[in-house]
Amino acid sequence: MTGTATAEPIRIIGVGRTFGGAAGTVALEQVDLVVQEREFVCLLGASGCGKSTLLSLIADLDAPTTGTIDLGGRRTAVMFQDANLFPWLTVAGNIELALRFSGVPKADWSRRVTELLDVVRLPGAEKRRPHELSGGMRQRVALARSLAQEAEVLLMDEPFAALDAITRDALHGEIERIAEERRLTVIFVTHNVREAVRLGDRVIVMKPSPGRIVREERVPLPRPRRMEDPEVARRAGELHDELDLQAGGAR
Ligand SMILES: Nc1ncnc2c1ncn2[C@@H]1O[C@H](COP(=O)(O)OP(=O)(O)O)[C@@H](O)[C@H]1O
Ligand SMILES: [Mg+2]
Repeated sequence: MTGTATAEPIRIIGVGRTFGGAAGTVALEQVDLVVQEREFVCLLGASGCGKSTLLSLIADLDAPTTGTIDLGGRRTAVMFQDANLFPWLTVAGNIELALRFSGVPKADWSRRVTELLDVVRLPGAEKRRPHELSGGMRQRVALARSLAQEAEVLLMDEPFAALDAITRDALHGEIERIAEERRLTVIFVTHNVREAVRLGDRVIVMKPSPGRIVREERVPLPRPRRMEDPEVARRAGELHDELDLQAGGAR
């Protein structure tokens, strides 16, 4: 089960990633970031500032050009803007794939799928097909599939960016609850300032060309929060102004 990781933080030290050789794109330069156990960190910045590149490096889907990333032995699971469900499989079939890769015995799959669908508040959806589901429901299935991997670290790359505001609000509540219940460390990428402040214990502000961290902001507000909370809005406004100044009109 989760929650057994060491209390050592995740350490990202001097990380750079250049694409296309010495004269190529510097997607990331000299990124230093320490993430504590069970911290919820939001990476915030305009398009092209290296957020997805950094997440891929943490997920070990890509290797840094310079620097080191030490996850302290933790496993990661990744979730993207698109649920990427296999359309020819049922909801249960999609989640079972993750259970299979995690080495869960086949005899346990059915029970585990039912549990996971309860966790993401999609009970009874086992036999449904992805095309029958709304975008929000598909992201709930994708979340269940990520949780099936029993990773201690959940890496999320703009997972709710394509959803309508009401669905997104609901999923914000779910991820906040699930991260707390399952004692997850979460690194959440977004270009939405309010979303970052709504969710993050800490917001890491990034800037492009070259991609780098320019500011860190703690968000010591009580949970659950809402996008509309005046204090969330006020802090988001401050960060928004700074992003606009720095990135020359970033969202
Ligand atoms: N595989 C790749 N090959 C070449 N350039 C890339 C690749 N991945 C990302 N980049 C470049 O690196 C920069 C950062 O990209 P990305 O990490 O996707 O930013 P973000 O997720 O913040 O929008 C961009 O200039 C992008 O074009
Ligand atoms: Mg991206």
